[in-house]
Amino acid sequence: MTTLMYTRRRLLTTGAVVLGAAALPLRMLGTESKRIFRSQDGFLDADLEAKIDWIPLAGRSAHLFAYNGQVPGPLLEVRPGDTVRLRFTNHLQSPTNLHFHGLHVPPTGNADNAFVEVQSGERFDYEFTLPRNHPAGAFWYHPHVHGSAADQVSKGLAGLIVVRGELDEIPEVAAAVERFLVLQDFALDSKGEVTQPAMMERMNGREGSLITVDGEVNPTLPILSGGLLRLRLLNASPSRFYRLKLEEHPLHLIATDGGALPAPVSRDEILIAPGERADILVSGNLAGGVYRLLNMPYNRGAMGMMGGPVRVSRPETLATIVYEGRAATQVRLPGGLIAVDPLPVPDTPTRQFVLSEAGIPGRGMSFLINGKLFDHHRVDTKVRLGSVEDWEIVNLSGMDHPFHLHTNSFQVLDADGQPERAWKDVILVPRRQRRRFRVRFDDFTGKAFYHCHILDHEDLGMMGIVEVGNSGEDKHDQ
Ligand code: C2O
Ligand code: CU
Ligand code: CU
Repeated sequence: MTTLMYTRRRLLTTGAVVLGAAALPLRMLGTESKRIFRSQDGFLDADLEAKIDWIPLAGRSAHLFAYNGQVPGPLLEVRPGDTVRLRFTNHLQSPTNLHFHGLHVPPTGNADNAFVEVQSGERFDYEFTLPRNHPAGAFWYHPHVHGSAADQVSKGLAGLIVVRGELDEIPEVAAAVERFLVLQDFALDSKGEVTQPAMMERMNGREGSLITVDGEVNPTLPILSGGLLRLRLLNASPSRFYRLKLEEHPLHLIATDGGALPAPVSRDEILIAPGERADILVSGNLAGGVYRLLNMPYNRGAMGMMGGPVRVSRPETLATIVYEGRAATQVRLPGGLIAVDPLPVPDTPTRQFVLSEAGIPGRGMSFLINGKLFDHHRVDTKVRLGSVEDWEIVNLSGMDHPFHLHTNSFQVLDADGQPERAWKDVILVPRRQRRRFRVRFDDFTGKAFYHCHILDHEDLGMMGIVEVGNSGEDKHDQ
């Protein structure tokens, strides 16, 4: 795999910007203090290190991989147009890197380049600038070295990147009390070590029995009667799905992976597959009481022939919403949010990606896209910069696969082929079904990944490379 050597970059500064001063540790309200790196004057400049550490987790100590000693890692808060510089050091024993999931930034150089491998003990400086028209939303960072992504994420490496913008300025949204809920799961033994999954667990996608919400088990989330609570969820688990339901309260979805919806959509339940985000408003419509945010049973399938476990369990409590007082003035749900224009209809045929599994002699079970295992030397899909394409993902396997595309968010097409007014970067393709989306390859040339976000499947081969170029040649060479 390509390894970019660490090079010390002399960064040019202009005016009164002082490097290093922008990363301010801020205390958040709540039982625990968490670190936020917030941009200032257009820059976010921070040190980030991945390290093995004993981390307090669920009332015990767990031996995890952590960014800056925290699980989840520090929250990075930026605005459109900002420049982000992360001096990243790998104190793990194995290579790692950073991927900025969902951000529309270059997939090359020292930006969101998931081909980079930072060796143990080495440093790498990541730097990128968000486009001025970047949507506000919740994005995240996590390691992406092929073959060890599931291992490293399952040990705790994940953090939120929040882009503040138009959505946050809508008065009702601004008036809501905001909570970030990073969902992770851990398989710990009695000593607090993460257990090594068996091959069957890797094929099914490893899950841990300890579920944490922003590093806590079943946190209490206060809500005001007459107020709004804004829950910003990220599924940072390697494989586990979360099917959310809040007792006696509908969930008002205001944004998905890539940003805001045109208007809130009310749902009884929301399914969040690995990598997906959901931004939800809860209206404090009741006078008081205690209500559970539940994770409902969901069957995502399993390795059929091998007789793997079917993961259907009982509802579990993820968090508890508690009414604590009354809002000074009642806050209503916003009527409208941010317009999402549909992408134009492409003038090229739909491109197809077939997801399957196969036993490969000497390799065990492999996970394939269009019959191929991932190869970092191969370009699987060539597209033209600025072009719009429809992609169809066909799932032939007995398991659901959440398909993720780097760099450019897409619009899911409904059964009639109409684009949904929402930006997504993960699309759940249920077993033996197919799904389509429309995407424009905007702004950046270079190679980027698409893969199943059940990270064990990605590690076992279910990943491909799309290259965005200036010419249209080989356009339909898959
Ligand atoms: Cu969140 Cu390629 O990954
Ligand atoms: Cu990604
Ligand atoms: Cu998968």
